[in-house]
Amino acid sequence: MHPVVDKSWPRLIQGGMGVAISNWRLARAVSLAGGLGVVSGTGIDTVLVRRLQDGDEDGHIRRALAESPWPVLARDITARYFRPGGRGAGEPYVRLPTWNAGVRSPRAALAMMGGFVECWLAKRGHAGRIGVNLLTKAPLPNLPVLYGAMSAGIDVVLMGAGIPREVPEALDRMADHQAAALRGEGVGGTRFDITFDPEWNGPAQAGPLQRPPFFPVIGAHSLALLMDRKTPGGVEGFVVETAQSGGHSAPPRGAKHLNPDGEPIYGPRDEVDWQVMRDLGKPFYIAGGYGSRRGLAEALARGAQGVQVGTLFAYCEESGMAPPLRERVLAAVRTGPVNVRTDPDASPTGFPFKVVGVEGTLSEPAIYAARPRRCDLGYLREAYTDSKGRLRFRCAAEPVQGYVAKGGRAEDTVGRKCLCNGLMATAGFAQRIQNGDVEPPILTSGDAIHETRNLMAPGHTAYTARDVVQYLLAGSGAGV
Ligand SMILES: Cc1cc2nc3c(=O)[nH]c(=O)nc-3n(C[C@H](O)[C@H](O)[C@H](O)COP(=O)(O)O)c2cc1C
Repeated sequence: MHPVVDKSWPRLIQGGMGVAISNWRLARAVSLAGGLGVVSGTGIDTVLVRRLQDGDEDGHIRRALAESPWPVLARDITARYFRPGGRGAGEPYVRLPTWNAGVRSPRAALAMMGGFVECWLAKRGHAGRIGVNLLTKAPLPNLPVLYGAMSAGIDVVLMGAGIPREVPEALDRMADHQAAALRGEGVGGTRFDITFDPEWNGPAQAGPLQRPPFFPVIGAHSLALLMDRKTPGGVEGFVVETAQSGGHSAPPRGAKHLNPDGEPIYGPRDEVDWQVMRDLGKPFYIAGGYGSRRGLAEALARGAQGVQVGTLFAYCEESGMAPPLRERVLAAVRTGPVNVRTDPDASPTGFPFKVVGVEGTLSEPAIYAARPRRCDLGYLREAYTDSKGRLRFRCAAEPVQGYVAKGGRAEDTVGRKCLCNGLMATAGFAQRIQNGDVEPPILTSGDAIHETRNLMAPGHTAYTARDVVQYLLAGSGAGV
């Protein structure tokens, strides 16, 4: 099955930002304003059940559940997780069963439903396009999330942080409600199959689903070439992300060198050959520091279809960032410089990850040191094979002793931060721990965080997704 590639791709993609920063409200608002709105599918099973436990105040989640093709599952999830009025004082969120590869699990059903709910809400009531973004580096939930998203009629799939070569074939198969598989890769040559079968959740839906086009998010033209030539099922376009992007970035090529602030140094080998991108003849977008009119003009001059922008949207009113954090950062941006550090150690994945220096977050050494290490969400765990040949998972941000007992090296745990809990907290879903403590947030943004200043009219302290779309496209001659 081949997806229909629409030649009229918009100039602007709102980047998928996990966890839940790119929520359905943001994606919908961007789509209504004329851009391509994208929801983040990362951690979406946890987000779904936490929203229900927080009381689902406006009823949107229960409305979407009721519209799903899996009514029994929807009722079961609602009965299990919905708390009218929210959780009691000090009550922690319910812990979900851990993920495992290639087995039918309640977690896969939640991920599928999470993908459906988020995309259904983003697409509701308008004809604009909506995409879903996932991380290749966190592969276990990806198939069920994609199937849920496709069941809601998603228009584009975007995936970065890795080489997602089996995804197009999986999309083909799942569009026909067939079982699909991805190849998981861990440390020390560990390989495993990640499978998902739509029939796990009941009889197949009637008729095939729309097979969405697939845009890998890549950091180098060589990867675009590889994906274009060697991907069964093919890719329909690309997002080329520079190292100025928020979130994870591809590490520099070649030997690791750090600047005096301990940030990785990128060099000429990391530069993208735009001629190679143009020669591929497929639409491509440029991301990372392109969130300005100048950036858009530059991208168009390079032959791009447009830009993918994250940071500007992360701080708009519809973003899923917890309002107090968003307001704190915007206030700081208005009055002075805000530090964004490319931290080579923060992410358990080992990929560089940008961390905003904000008071009260894991960027502060004292807050980082005071947080007892724990791993109870597990999205970024790495797979390894234990001494008995069994597939196991571990995280470099878990307690050091446990990580070492699982064959990890103590030195690989230094500076590692629990992004799963930190990013959940940033989106307002902080887990409560003993003694009234809550998980501290961690904030990521692109280097161009100060561009947010241009969005706030004099005397204003906030802006909307529509303001961002209009700011970027006005006067560019690009139209939407
Ligand atoms: C808060 C935040 C979270 C992000 N999370 C993800 C993610 O989960 N997956 C992804 O592919 N990109 C992620 N990104 C990158 C964006 O999708 C986008 O490509 C990037 O931010 C563009 O650069 P800009 O921030 O300079 O506009 C994130 C960016 C930000 C600011």
